[in-house]
Amino acid sequence: MTMNGREMSSGGRLRGVVLAGGRGTRLGCITRVANKHLLPVYDRPMIFHGLEAMACAGVREVMVVVDRGDLDEYRRLLIDPLEHGLDRLELGEQDGPKGIADALAVAESFVGGNDAFVLLGDNLFGTSLAAAAQEFAGSRATGMVMLTPVENPREFGIARFSGSDGRLEEIIEKPEHPPTDLGVTGAYFYRPSVFDLIRGLSPSSRGELEITDLNNAILSRGELDWSDVEGWWADAGTPDGLLRASLNAADRGVNGGPARRSLVHETGGDPY
Ligand code: TTP
Repeated sequence: MTMNGREMSSGGRLRGVVLAGGRGTRLGCITRVANKHLLPVYDRPMIFHGLEAMACAGVREVMVVVDRGDLDEYRRLLIDPLEHGLDRLELGEQDGPKGIADALAVAESFVGGNDAFVLLGDNLFGTSLAAAAQEFAGSRATGMVMLTPVENPREFGIARFSGSDGRLEEIIEKPEHPPTDLGVTGAYFYRPSVFDLIRGLSPSSRGELEITDLNNAILSRGELDWSDVEGWWADAGTPDGLLRASLNAADRGVNGGPARRSLVHETGGDPY
């Protein structure tokens, strides 16, 4: 199958989960009435890029987890799975912004006995994650995270490696003294056993079930792999990140596709 001229891998039994709940406080007044993932990243609502990331990784069945209060808008926007290169597109309902791992738990029955490709809806990638999906499919790990160098490591989950054998030892959330500049991006691969591990988590001091606690729990069992992100990555959850995501999408392309500025100009504004 192709999408915008790109080959997409045929995929296996990998289900997609795009997380689009949360508060969006870092965007200030912009998200006072609009959910963050409905904002434009260049020419499309942010969530469309996440759905495309799923299709490009070979996923055919996706659940988008949204806050209960945003369901109606998503129902109006996400009409046809085929528009996104998918066979099945469902909405999951999160009961308030109780954390990323809590949002993932909403998708437990949708994922069932399959592996899951989980994407934070505000994370954008310049390249397709098909190779990462294949890497995970061929591994025995319970989870895999995607790392990339970041300019501001004090603002992200940062990887710490063992001095002796270079193994990933810990993910430290917003470290005061970052051990590396390698940030954990918002793309994760998990086996279905991840949902048992989420049940073992306790809320953090800010009252959320944290994805970093989940990944560190997998790490402490020696079952977390990691892989490098190829190409650009943006966390569109801040004004600067949102701007960078739009500029990169326009001029360099998203998910391995062509620069979207050229698509928009060729199609007169509707690249679908
Ligand atoms: P964050 O950016 O960590 O949280 P947020 O979206 O509430 O934004 P802010 O920190 O500015 O207040 O969330 C990362 C992604 O995870 C985001 O794309 C939305 C998703 N998410 C949920 O789906 N449910 C949640 O409860 C939270 C906290 C986040």
